[in-house]
Amino acid sequence: MAVATAADPALAAVATAGLARPRSLVTALVLLAAVASAVLALLLLPAASRDPYTRATLASQGSAQDGGRLFRLNCAGCHGLAAQGLVGPNLHGVGRRKNDRQLIQQVISGRTPPMPRFQLDPQAMADLLAFLHSLA
Ligand code: HEC
Repeated sequence: MAVATAADPALAAVATAGLARPRSLVTALVLLAAVASAVLALLLLPAASRDPYTRATLASQGSAQDGGRLFRLNCAGCHGLAAQGLVGPNLHGVGRRKNDRQLIQQVISGRTPPMPRFQLDPQAMADLLAFLHSLA
C-alpha cells in the first residue's frame, strides 16, 4: 500500500512530463513561427518606411496649388504647362500608374534621363505629389 502510494506521484510525474513535452514543442514551434514572421516582416517592409525622406514626404500635407507652382517652374518645360506631355510623358493619371513611392523616386532619383534629379525638401515633394494626384 505504502509502496504503491510512493510510486504513484513518480508515475504521475512521468506522465506529466510525457504530456508536457509535446505541448512545449508546440509552444516552441509557435514562438519560432512568430519570430520568423517578425523577422520576415522587417525584411519585407517597403523601403518607403525605412527611407526618412519618403517617410517625411508622406507625413506632410501637400498643397496641390503650391505643387502646381513648382511644376510650372521645374517640370512644365518637359511635361507641358498642362502636363499634357512634350519631351516627357503626359502626366494625367500618373497616380494610377505609379504609387507615391515610385513618384517620389521618379522625381528625386534622376534614374530616367533626360529627366534630371530634383532636390526638394519633403514639404515641396508632398506639394508636387498632391499636384500629380490632382491631374485626373
Ligand atoms: C528634362 C526634361 C524633364 C524635366 C525637367 C522633368 N521631367 Fe519628368 N520625365 C521626363 C522624361 C523624359 C520622362 C520619361 C522617363 C522614362 O520613363 O524613361 C519623365 C517621366 C516622369 C514621370 C513618370 C511618368 C510615367 O508615366 O510614369 C513623372 C511622374 C515625372 N516625370 C514627373 C516630373 C516632375 C514632377 C518634374 C518636375 C519636378 C519633372 N518630371 C521634370 C522628362 C523631364
